Amino acid sequence: MEKTILTGIRPTGRLHLGHFFGATKNWVELQDKYQSFFEIADVQALTDNFDNPTKVRENVREIAIDLLSIGIDPNKSIMFIQSMIPEIAELTIFYSNLVTMARLYRNPTIKTEIAQKKAIFGNHGESVTYGFVGYPVSQAADITAFNGELVPVGEDQLPLIEQCREIVRKFNSIYGDTLKEPEPYLSKTTRIKGLDGNDKMGKSLGNAIYLRDSEEIITKKIMNAVTDSNKIKKNDPANPDKCMVYYYHQLVNHTNLDVVCSECRKGSRGCVQCKKELIAHMMNFLKPIQEKAHYYENHPEVVDAILLDGTKKAQKVAKETMKKVKKAIKIDYYS
Ligand code: TRP
Repeated sequence: MEKTILTGIRPTGRLHLGHFFGATKNWVELQDKYQSFFEIADVQALTDNFDNPTKVRENVREIAIDLLSIGIDPNKSIMFIQSMIPEIAELTIFYSNLVTMARLYRNPTIKTEIAQKKAIFGNHGESVTYGFVGYPVSQAADITAFNGELVPVGEDQLPLIEQCREIVRKFNSIYGDTLKEPEPYLSKTTRIKGLDGNDKMGKSLGNAIYLRDSEEIITKKIMNAVTDSNKIKKNDPANPDKCMVYYYHQLVNHTNLDVVCSECRKGSRGCVQCKKELIAHMMNFLKPIQEKAHYYENHPEVVDAILLDGTKKAQKVAKETMKKVKKAIKIDYYS
């Protein structure tokens, strides 16, 4: 039997190149090799967006459209909405007894995220909610509800998988062998830099290229992208490794990358020409995705049917897990 993978994404915005090359491109390949569950993690998104439910609600469908457009195939994998699986919330409650507060605060992912929040909201402990500190527990429920064996994630998420493994071990040692211990699946993906040269492309950093950006917006963004600051005149030689335009050429230009690089170093290529070529390559890359997205934008009922179908399949699996868990904890009353 093929192994099960489970991974998730928070619906807080549309997909950008960082998501694509950093994660979701890989999901498309994984669905051919594994029984795949892709969770649209709206409950998790609410941990930091509880005051903005409209944003989360709208982005559930946007993320679904993006995922379908890049090739997530509902005939091969199961895409579902987290909040429609109440068993995840139920499991979270039972798992929360198996985790100490100290362990949660020591989780490097949580530590980093709390530090980031403090930098934004000031040093008030009150800004950190119970739900937020506890989201690794809920994520352990996400994974185990579907017997996830492999969890494709970026390196920043490894501490959450480790926390899940600890919960599973503790559960099994107290209540008997019930849950599967998952493993992280680190893929050959890369973290994608932003248009401003920042190490990370992110919505909140305002440096992202979205899969559904129009040609006009792409043109504006690429025309303003950071290039080697030592290059002042068109024919100055430059270092492509210091240039975001070359950086993105590497992602989407499969025809004359060597020429771009050598001409840049020699000084025989101006930045405007180089940017225009990148825009053309970028649009070539994005066109097929955008055409599919356009179809789904015009057929929201198709997207809804896919989500509903995936969610129903996911519900079945989670119900089975819940039965086993309740039996193990001896709360399977009258069943
Ligand atoms: N925390 C993940 C992120 O922010 C998203 C996520 C939610 C997830 N549930 C998951 C990832 C379960 C792996 C497994 O990227």
